[in-house]
This record gives sequence, C-alpha cells and structure tokens, in this order.
Amino acid sequence: MSNKAILEVNGQKHEFPTITGSENEVAIDISSLRTATSGVTTIDPGFKNTGSCVSEITFLDGEKGILRYRGYSIEELAEKADFLEVAFLLIFGELPSKEELDKFHADIKSESIVDDDIRKIIDAFPKSAHPMGVLSSLTSALTAFNPSSVNVDSQEDMYKSVVRILGKFPVLVAWAMRKKQGLPLDYGDNSLGYVENVLKMMFKQPNEEYVQNEILVNALNKLLILHADHEQNCSTSTVRIVGSSHAGLFASISAGISALWGPLHGGANQAVLEMLEAIKADGGDTKKYMSKAKDKSDPFRLMGFGHRVYKNFDPRAKIIKVTADEVLNDLGVEDPILDIAKGLEKEALTDAYFVDRKLYPNVDFYSGIIYRAMGIPVEMFTVMFALGRLPGWIGQWREMRLRKEPIGRPRQIYTGSTHRPFKSVAK
Ligand code: CMC
Repeated sequence: MSNKAILEVNGQKHEFPTITGSENEVAIDISSLRTATSGVTTIDPGFKNTGSCVSEITFLDGEKGILRYRGYSIEELAEKADFLEVAFLLIFGELPSKEELDKFHADIKSESIVDDDIRKIIDAFPKSAHPMGVLSSLTSALTAFNPSSVNVDSQEDMYKSVVRILGKFPVLVAWAMRKKQGLPLDYGDNSLGYVENVLKMMFKQPNEEYVQNEILVNALNKLLILHADHEQNCSTSTVRIVGSSHAGLFASISAGISALWGPLHGGANQAVLEMLEAIKADGGDTKKYMSKAKDKSDPFRLMGFGHRVYKNFDPRAKIIKVTADEVLNDLGVEDPILDIAKGLEKEALTDAYFVDRKLYPNVDFYSGIIYRAMGIPVEMFTVMFALGRLPGWIGQWREMRLRKEPIGRPRQIYTGSTHRPFKSVAK
C-alpha cells in the first residue's frame, strides 16, 4: 500500500505522508497542509474523520465490535481483572505486579482525605442540585486546594498527582450522593479495597454497621472497568484539550465531567432509565416509542441506542446485558423495566430504520438497570460513569503531557460579514 496521499488544490498537487497504526488503521498526516497550500484548511464538523492524536492506550474497531485497553480485550478484563489493576494498566501502560499494585493502592489511600473546608462548598448547594454539577464543581474546587501545577518532567510529581485524584475523587462521588440524601459526609475506610470503599462511603447509614455485599462489589467492579476508557470520545477529548493549555489535572478532569454530563454522552444512562420509566407509565407500548424515534419531526431519540464508532455492536453492552440478568437474579430483584428494555432492543434489531443506520444498544442501555438494582439513585448514574472513566481521563491526559503535544487550537472557516465601517448609535 502506498504511504502517501495526493491532494489537488487550485490545480496544484500536494503530497502528504500517511501513517499506519499497529492495528493497520491508516491516517493522512496533514500537519503540513497549511504551509504547503498557503493557508488552506480542512473542515470536519464533529471530527467524524479527524484523528486528534496518536495514542497507545485504547483500541476500538467499531465495525467488528472490538475494544481493548493496552492490547487486553475488554471481555477478559471485565471477567478477570480488578478495577485498580485496570486503572494502573491504562495510566502506566502495563499490568502491575503484586508489589506495584499494593504500593499504588497504599499511595491512593494516603491521599484519600479531602480538605474539610470542601464541606462548606457542598453546604452551599441546594439539595435539588444535580450530583454531576456538584461533582464537577467540587473537582474544580480541589484545584484551589491543590494549586501547584504538575511538573510533567518529574516522574514523582506526575505520579503524585495521579494518586491524589484517584484518592480524593471517590470521596467527592460519595459526598455528591450523600448531600442529595441528607446523609452525613464521611471519609472512607482504608482497610477496604477501592471498590468496597466506594460502596461503603456511598451507602453507610450513620446508625448501622455497613455489611459488604459481594454481588454489588463484583457488579460495580465490572461496570467501572467497562467504562474506564474509550479513546478520543467527547469527554476525553475535552480533558486532553483543556490539559493541552497546561491547566492542571483537576481542572482538566472537571471539564471532562461537564462534557460527560450531556445526554448524548454519559448522561444517556440517566436518560435511558427515565425513558424506560416513561414507556412503562405510558402502558409499556414500545412500538409507539419506536415510531417516535423514527419520526424526524419528533425530537425523541431512543436513548441508549447508536454510537459514533460502533456500527455492529457495542461489546460493553453485550457484557452489561448479561451482567444485568445476573445481578437482578442474584439480588432477587424483579424489574419490569428490564423486560421493556429487552422488548425495545428486540424490535430495534429487526427494524429497517435502526438496521440501516446501524443503531445498536450502547453501554448506557442496560447499565442503569444494574445501578438501580444496586440502590443507586438515577441522578447518580452519570456520576458512576465518571468514576469509571477517571483512569482513562488520567491516562490520556498523562500521555498527552508526556508527548509534549501542542495546545489544542482548531481552525475555522469564517462565514460572517466582511469588513464594514462602524456606525455610531447616535447616527
Ligand atoms: N434514535 C433514533 N435515531 C437515531 C439515534 C437514536 N438513538 N441515534 C442516531 N439516530 C439516527 C440519526 O437521526 C441519523 O439519522 P439520519 O441519517 O436519517 O439523519 C443517523 O441515525 C445517524 O445519527 P447521528 O446523530 O448522525 O450519529 P452520531 O454519530 O453523530 O451520534 C450518538 C451518535 C450516540 C450521539 C447518537 O446515536 C445518539 O444520540 N444516541 C442516543 C444517545 C446515547 O445513547 N448516547 C450514548 C452514547 S454511548 C456512551 C458514550 O460514549 O457516552
């Protein structure tokens, strides 16, 4: 295969190199385009055809439904790994040895105290505040409490900032939920595993001993792993672009949380459950909602369906569907919403509109059903997504800084007024 691409602009031919990734993906390197063509640029709304970086972290093949972190398949990791092992893998590139993992966990635990003054900020939020808004604000507030920016040339500084955010973030997650429920804000238990500690911080009642439930621990461990990275999605690209201005890690993560919140991205998990509830309340008529989703004059979309990259199936959705069945079964929960979800999926998979557009259930379609069975409130679903995505955001931010990538600054094609004289308002 040729390793160059020829582009003809205004009658002149220009040659650009191509680069090939380790999975044989090919890209045309247009980094010299503007110089070679005296200022011609490219336009690609939604970056549907644009690679923003080269990355060694996550590979996904949307046609074949493949997702791998650092070469390891998502199926194997979800089945066999621990969330913290996956976090280490994503951030540092290799699975940790037992000693490395123990040290990593100990270092995270040593950073698990959040400045107590953060409570005053939480107190200022009304109980009605959405936990994603609270989480984004608190993560941003941590910047003010940890002002020094990361010296990326220092391995030690870099490592310190990584364990710091991994230690403090679950506390903020738990506090965002407890604030909503009017429960006292507390710190974690350093004798527990990362996932066990998250559950205890979220669910511990002030007047009861918290008893761990292995079914919940395993389910959450799996869900966090499935959400841990997804290459250059909207929130990750946000983290990378904010970080590219050398803003601190916490500030970059806070921006990523805001990007994740939208219903077309991570916010879809909350939107799916609300949609399924609405269908149930409306008599469970899935056909009516299928028609609405296909009607171009109706803004309704089937939430939890479709994906920018997956055009065959979302491998995470496959795993989550099986997990939803298992968790509900193990917990002895019967949820009619699961039947509505399965009914919708069945119809969509044979419907010409969905088949032609390659719209399949995505990661968010079944995850909310599991979260609900675990006792997690609907408004916390996207917060749980953020907790899972944290190591991916950190790993991508770290990669971008270590590669010394330039500040992200796209171009535009201006279509506004050309030069015109100013007229004073008096005239
Ligand atoms: N329901 C009905 N029609 C849809 C849907 C849907 N969920 N998704 C896409 N379409 C149609 C869309 O109207 C368009 O039709 P046409 O070609 O006739 O104009 C066609 O399919 C292509 O859609 P698109 O919006 O151009 O595709 P996109 O790649 O820009 O958007 C998406 C991808 C995920 C934003 C979109 O599929 C969507 O809005 N899905 C619902 C929200 C959702 O579940 N988001 C979670 C994504 S997975 C988790 C994550 O990464 O955050």
